[in-house]
Amino acid sequence: MSREIHIVTGAFGYSGKYITKRLLDEGVEVRTLTNSLNRENPFGEKIKVYPLNFENIQSLAKSMEGGTVLYNTYWVRFNYSGKRVSFNHDEAVENTLRLFEAAKIAGIKRIVHTSITNPSEDSPLPYFRGKALLEGALIDSGISYAILRPAVLFGREDILINNIAWMLRKFPVFGVFGDGSYRLQPIYVDDFAEIAVREGKRRENVIIDAIGPETFTFKDLVKRIGEIIGKERPIISIPDWLGYYTGLVVGKILGDVVITREEIAGLKSNLLYTNSQPAGKTKLTEWARENKDRLGIKYSSELKRRRDRERSYEKL
Ligand SMILES: NC(=O)c1ccc[n+]([C@@H]2O[C@H](COP(=O)([O-])OP(=O)(O)OC[C@H]3O[C@@H](n4cnc5c(N)ncnc54)[C@H](OP(=O)(O)O)[C@@H]3O)[C@@H](O)[C@H]2O)c1
Repeated sequence: MSREIHIVTGAFGYSGKYITKRLLDEGVEVRTLTNSLNRENPFGEKIKVYPLNFENIQSLAKSMEGGTVLYNTYWVRFNYSGKRVSFNHDEAVENTLRLFEAAKIAGIKRIVHTSITNPSEDSPLPYFRGKALLEGALIDSGISYAILRPAVLFGREDILINNIAWMLRKFPVFGVFGDGSYRLQPIYVDDFAEIAVREGKRRENVIIDAIGPETFTFKDLVKRIGEIIGKERPIISIPDWLGYYTGLVVGKILGDVVITREEIAGLKSNLLYTNSQPAGKTKLTEWARENKDRLGIKYSSELKRRRDRERSYEKL
């Protein structure tokens, strides 16, 4: 009997890599769609690699032909226009709609789609609004779906948690926006992949808040990470504008966007928090303890990942 073919976006990136590993371990044939065709490939000949060519729906569909499940991780973190790379949420919405259309043409039976906690079509934040629009489009597409809504992912290739640790290592104090009481529920990236692969086998339409077992206030998260890596810094409340401009200066030095105004607003509006039961089992505090010697040693740069399409995220 021939093996099932599953399609994963971004198998050389972050969550897509963990999903791919799990699928290959289960004996599934995997194809990836990516625009980082030359990025370090940890799977070698075991996967087939195709361009994530949004300009040509027919060729996108062709690369999915014969596939049964599509795992979509594609999205952009913020709007950015630079000399070497530009991307924005509106374009990401358009591109994803094309991906769904191509999946339909290709006869894909199930889409496991990555969204975000608390998406809303009425949100003033383009990240949360765009994700809500895409959820609606997927639901209307007639293709069976599992919509996974993580708050924050953590793991070796992570940005947010790693960079909090990096700042704790580098600076004598840590400033949180306002009182730091807004909450977040990080999930381990491989727990997330486990849920994605499990949902790839089902055909029931579901929406799952993919959150981890621990809920932190932002301030408490910073405190716990500081304790774990042995860098307990005074945590002070600062106004949003000061946090934003500090991020801007640090970002200029590092050639990255550390945090956007929209991300600060999303955090402070408790959009990375839900009332749902945990879906993941790995505790961030335990994982951080196991990884304390490497957590935050190196800054993780979003823009480096976009500019350098060859090295693995961990090496950037
Ligand atoms: N990371 C988190 O903490 C977090 C939290 C909540 C929700 N999510 C959601 O989880 C999903 C996967 O996130 P991830 O962190 O695992 O992402 P990722 O692996 O870095 O990227 C996933 C895919 O999106 C593409 N991509 C990312 N940024 C892009 C850009 N600026 N321009 C063009 N293509 C871009 C990548 O393209 P290439 O393959 O071409 O490189 C890859 O195919 C996303 O939908 C995200 O919204 C993530």
